[in-house]
Amino acid sequence: MARIVVVGASLTDMNLRLARLPRPGETLLGGTFFNAPGGKGANQAVAASRAGGQVTFLTAFGDDDIGRSIRAHDEAEGIDLRYAKTVSGASTGVALILVGDDGENLIGVAMGANGLLTSEYIQQLPDEVFTPGGVLLVSLEVPIDVSEAAIRRGHAGGMVVVVNPAPADSRLVERGLMPLIDVLTPNESEAAELTGGDASDPRELAERVRGLGTKSVVLTLGGQGCLVVNKAGATPIPARRVEVVDTVGAGDAFNAALAVALAEGRSLVEAATWASSAAAIAVTKPGAQGALPTRAQIDSLAQQLT
Ligand code: RIB
Repeated sequence: MARIVVVGASLTDMNLRLARLPRPGETLLGGTFFNAPGGKGANQAVAASRAGGQVTFLTAFGDDDIGRSIRAHDEAEGIDLRYAKTVSGASTGVALILVGDDGENLIGVAMGANGLLTSEYIQQLPDEVFTPGGVLLVSLEVPIDVSEAAIRRGHAGGMVVVVNPAPADSRLVERGLMPLIDVLTPNESEAAELTGGDASDPRELAERVRGLGTKSVVLTLGGQGCLVVNKAGATPIPARRVEVVDTVGAGDAFNAALAVALAEGRSLVEAATWASSAAAIAVTKPGAQGALPTRAQIDSLAQQLT
């Protein structure tokens, strides 16, 4: 079974759906609200488990009712939480998410317990967590020292290191971490932030990111699909055509399926192609985790379209 170690935040998502996103200073009425588990790390852990991975999740829960309920929810999803922390006296992190009827969103995050993790948390883990044959999937809603320690241990342990630089953090470059990353998966704005400038041509942007030292780049382009750039060249992968309800969590579905496919030994282009079916399903339902597909659903869409 594909072995995936996910490092990232566990949050509770407060989702508010409105006809459109409000402008700064404006109050809009008429929204609908729901609360659900979220956080890029948690979404990726759940998505990888549903996609067929054997998932170990390194994260922090608050010492509160929400933290206990999210922990139980993750366990029910089949995720190994042996090394996840409940931080005494801390609150579970929160994401406030506004989604307009066109599917666009705005997200603000209070990191809560995730923000209290330190590099020692990763350094004290046993070697058996970071072993060859597995994929390490890291997102950046935890302190950069934690992401750095995980990337260094994953690389040293012979894992395939996949980093989803969300939100973008230039310290990945400044701390010399890029050469330790096998696959970096930015969207266009994250890629621009990492390289210090926009580029109208996605290929040029992806090449510039790869120039920072990572082996391969998968530049995600939303409704335009993604672009895989590695030493073999650039391969565009079109997006699956679906009706978009809510894009929150689509990137997480993509990254998780990519990690599972890589752990199963598929090529980067094959993995990204399969993952684009996972992302397509994720945008067809509201919220992050409620929309994450099972392996059977991903396979079914992938087969219909090949
Ligand atoms: O990627 C989507 C996630 O980003 C949401 O679930 C929210 O928690 C934010 O962190």
